[in-house]
Amino acid sequence: MSRTLLIVSGGIEAVPGIRLAKEMGLHVVVSDMNPNAPGLAVADDRIIASTYDVEATVAAAKRYHRAVRPIDGVMCIASDVPLTVASVALALGLPGIPPESASLATDKLAMKRKFSADGVPVPWFSPVESIEHLRKIVMQQGYPLVLKPVDSRGARGVLRLTPDVDLEWAYHLSHSYSPTDRVMVERFLAGPQVSTESIVVNGVAYTPGFSDRNYEYLERYAPYIIENGGELPSYLPTETRQAVRDLVQQAARSMGITDGVVKGDIVVHDSKPYVIELAARLSGGYFCTHEIPLNTGVDFVRHAIRLALGEKPDPSELTPHFQRGVAQRYLFPKPGRVIRISGLEEAKQRPGIVLCEVRVAVGDIMGMIESHPSRAGVVIAVADTRQKAIDRVAAVVNDIEIETVPVG
Ligand SMILES: Nc1ncnc2c1ncn2[C@@H]1O[C@H](COP(=O)(O)OP(=O)(O)OP(=O)(O)O)[C@@H](O)[C@H]1O
Ligand SMILES: [Mg+2]
Repeated sequence: MSRTLLIVSGGIEAVPGIRLAKEMGLHVVVSDMNPNAPGLAVADDRIIASTYDVEATVAAAKRYHRAVRPIDGVMCIASDVPLTVASVALALGLPGIPPESASLATDKLAMKRKFSADGVPVPWFSPVESIEHLRKIVMQQGYPLVLKPVDSRGARGVLRLTPDVDLEWAYHLSHSYSPTDRVMVERFLAGPQVSTESIVVNGVAYTPGFSDRNYEYLERYAPYIIENGGELPSYLPTETRQAVRDLVQQAARSMGITDGVVKGDIVVHDSKPYVIELAARLSGGYFCTHEIPLNTGVDFVRHAIRLALGEKPDPSELTPHFQRGVAQRYLFPKPGRVIRISGLEEAKQRPGIVLCEVRVAVGDIMGMIESHPSRAGVVIAVADTRQKAIDRVAAVVNDIEIETVPVG
């Protein structure tokens, strides 16, 4: 009998990973709350349970394990539910990270406290108890700061505080995105931002995923902090890249992850890297499924799947085989009702375009861009060099027109 893998998440970005697991000969069970989730349609078996509901997913996985067929591994793809995954792994005796590590990964305050205690460089931070407390912090620390919910994702409610931002508005907005009503503040560290993605095997972090993040719209969408894709290979000097890798290693150890996937948000400030966040899961935004394999030849998700089944990928399999240029950009239409989308088919035919996804349809209402999920689509290009990939993706972004008219 083929081995069985449970993938906790049936969203659209999980589909390539689900297909890959099937190609690897695995029997794939997908769990999701939405019966129409695209991942459920390609799965061998389905479990209907909210990916965020730890108890419901554990209970359903146990039932399946007992009554249908034994599960050999569990993971999530493009969804931020490490605690659900770690709890299923613990309940069924499967490979996985400890639930304590998963809990740290989904609580930005607990994570930063742990990093601080272990000497892992992080921006200065503090919990914020009230609007008065925030005002006091601003007086003491000065600008710029970042206000964020302790436990949200997708940059929802993440605000760069500068003198022109109304603190009361910011506090309430950020607060509204925290399921546990908690916000925190950090010093905003200027400098190049990097996304990393690593597989930790026997306590050693291998980091084939290394992308410079594009923040050209920092001012346009201020005070929201909106990323416009990324570029690979990184332009940072070799020593800085090594320092980033060493930092990821240190952070994974601090979080207690000896075998697992870690996705890092790192900022290089005054030539020194700091951890903004370390997620204990695969990335979203097609970084692990597309950008890393295109850039390096490392089939990242395949090795993450093997790790979830208890195999130990060889270091040589996690080391970049080459460095090809890759660039990713998002689509940002003007707010309003979408009346026409054009140029998509031509865009897909252009050289080097490997992914071109528009996430809106005629009739949809586009709000202001206030978080990552509100971006309207994504394009990825490859070329022999980074600059050529950037030029290719820019041409396509220019070609695709999402026309809107003001609403009301
Ligand atoms: N202290 C900081 N200094 C500089 N940039 C920051 C800081 N905090 C957050 N940012 C920027 O804002 C982005 C979003 O912040 P953060 O990762 O904390 O929120 P998130 O909701 O987890 O977002 P995402 O899911 O996109 O990672 C970061 O990836 C980083 O680019
Ligand atoms: Mg983050």
